[in-house]
Amino acid sequence: MSYQLIFLGPPGAGKGTQAESVCRDRGIPQISTGDILRGAIKAGTELGRKAKAYMDEGLLAPDDLIIGIMEERLRQSDCEAGFLLDGVPRTVPQAEAVEAMLENLGRPLTAVVSIDVPDEDIIARITGRRSCPKDGMVYHVQYKAPRTEGRCDLCGTELVQRADDTRETVENRLRVYKEQTAPLIDFYSEREVLAMVDGRGSIDEIAARVADAIDRAASRQGS
Ligand code: AP5
Repeated sequence: MSYQLIFLGPPGAGKGTQAESVCRDRGIPQISTGDILRGAIKAGTELGRKAKAYMDEGLLAPDDLIIGIMEERLRQSDCEAGFLLDGVPRTVPQAEAVEAMLENLGRPLTAVVSIDVPDEDIIARITGRRSCPKDGMVYHVQYKAPRTEGRCDLCGTELVQRADDTRETVENRLRVYKEQTAPLIDFYSEREVLAMVDGRGSIDEIAARVADAIDRAASRQGS
């Protein structure tokens, strides 16, 4: 079975957290445009230079940048077994471009999983998030605490807070999500691939709901 998945949801909904276990269990790559852009900023590339000002403000990077990234990434050989798009598409033009790419590749979408979380939980999740600058592991000071405070479980590196995880930027990101990304719920609902998942509760509870939604979509597609 090859899975073509999209995770939608507001900033801090837990897309990356849930994507990690889905990708591990199903043997597919996690494609996060946020991670790709942060990597480009760290490496000091032209792409990173263009994206940084938008990310610092909590605004979306331009569609043409993101569509270019996706065109290159989806052609790579590890995507032949399927993939999970984490945080992309985020606008209707991005969704239309991804749809055209998948059509060219002859790969139908298995499911678009939208993780729904109330704003007050989002703020608590994002402001408590810490990540490892070396291997990208994501923690939360309260909900997913590392074994040693402030240190990565895997490599012991000191954890950092993302530059766009301040309360002010999060409020901007939430506003941008509602204006520009939430319309994708209707876009995918019309295409009958949308699965809405309640994102409240523990990481394990949500993982069970997400796995169930993907399995149900995959069996519908297979039948
Ligand atoms: P991106 O990196 O994609 O950020 P985001 O969508 O805002 O999502 P996050 O990574 O903040 O959250 P998440 O849903 O993955 O949550 P996580 O699992 O980490 O994008 C950043 C920026 O890049 C954008 O603002 C934009 O500028 C640019 N960009 C990226 N893609 C773009 C695109 N397609 N178009 C244009 N611009 C783009 O969880 C959050 C925290 O909560 C963690 O600490 C976690 O441990 C904790 N947590 C998770 N689940 C639970 C739970 N159930 N209970 C308690 N805590 C939990």
